[in-house]
Amino acid sequence: MKKALITGVTGQDGSYLSEFLLEKGYEVYGVIRRSSVDYRERIAHLEGVKNFHLRYGDLSDSSSIMALVSTIQPDEIYNLAAQSHVQVSFDSPEYTADIDATGVLRVLEAVRLCGLADKCKVYQASTSELYGKVEEVPQRETTPFHPYSPYAVAKQYGFWITKEYREAYNMFCCSGILFNHESERRGETFVTRKITLAAARIAQGKQEKLYLGNLSSLRDWGYAKDYVECMWLILQNKTPEDFVIATGEQHSVREFATLAFHHAGIELEWKGEGMDEKGIDKATGKVVVEVSPDFYRPTDVVNLWGDPTKAKTELGWNPTKTSFEELVKIMVDHDMSKVAVERAEEHIKMNLEEYLEKGVVK
Ligand code: GDD
Repeated sequence: MKKALITGVTGQDGSYLSEFLLEKGYEVYGVIRRSSVDYRERIAHLEGVKNFHLRYGDLSDSSSIMALVSTIQPDEIYNLAAQSHVQVSFDSPEYTADIDATGVLRVLEAVRLCGLADKCKVYQASTSELYGKVEEVPQRETTPFHPYSPYAVAKQYGFWITKEYREAYNMFCCSGILFNHESERRGETFVTRKITLAAARIAQGKQEKLYLGNLSSLRDWGYAKDYVECMWLILQNKTPEDFVIATGEQHSVREFATLAFHHAGIELEWKGEGMDEKGIDKATGKVVVEVSPDFYRPTDVVNLWGDPTKAKTELGWNPTKTSFEELVKIMVDHDMSKVAVERAEEHIKMNLEEYLEKGVVK
């Protein structure tokens, strides 16, 4: 039975990858950090499942990584842990560098120093943010990098140190250069999930307005569940190589919002430009989307579009398994149900409070 160690197991990708590897018959070890608040929602359904184990560790603590690698002796490591929010990296650049750059080095060094250089394969979660202020459209493996945020600069180090360990120590370590990948498990401050949750809340009368930043920003959005398969395929390839993982389709934030609101039952009409642009509910004439400078970044990456040809031809991966339209629908359907459940719970609580007050229940 193969053993996989996943850092970042509590995240969107970590949870999907755990499910995928368990299904493939792996023994999965997920690394979690100590926290006083519960952040294990995405993997709660896996706790207690046979062959799924959680261990404490932190990418900022090399001794913890070393201990995990030496005791578990994994066949594959998936390094998904990161400070993954681009805007936050402007506020916490040093922390971002520690985890997203030096953290990668700590994982690679742990493998090497534990004598596993020729046994343990390492997948590094790299990113389309490396292309940043893009020098070519669409972007492929040969496109020059131009990182454009503290996050991307840190990830650039992670990419190069992985390549360096491959060349210097002959290790099987590779980067998946993943373009944006979303799902119903996506964190609520990333633009897609922020939109689908707001559309659901506005449609059900629980929120008045959604405030966004740059509506014209362009992204290549795929479904995270499809992308974790590719992480695995990269490590099963004959030779260690880096791959672009993308759908090959590009859409704007505005387009995503239009489609998400449509699925939630609201047809949007856009009026105005730049900071004055507004999304108006055609049926009621109400402004439901506005632009706020709070969500603009000091430097923003605005033209990401990936070319997945290499992954398609060399790994046999299907980049269009889930279409953009399906992805938006999956997310909106999920959030419509989530908001409906929250409303029902509120209703029950209100009734219960009233009954308690009237002495109907004690
Ligand atoms: N988060 C956010 N919130 N982004 C907004 C908003 C808003 O209100 N309004 C517009 N945007 C724009 C951002 O300026 C950016 O251009 C785009 O929407 C996407 O932003 P995010 O969803 O935050 O994702 P990201 O592209 O910055 O980064 C994500 O994808 C990368 C892969 O390319 C993250 O998952 C990274 O960790 C990942 O590497």
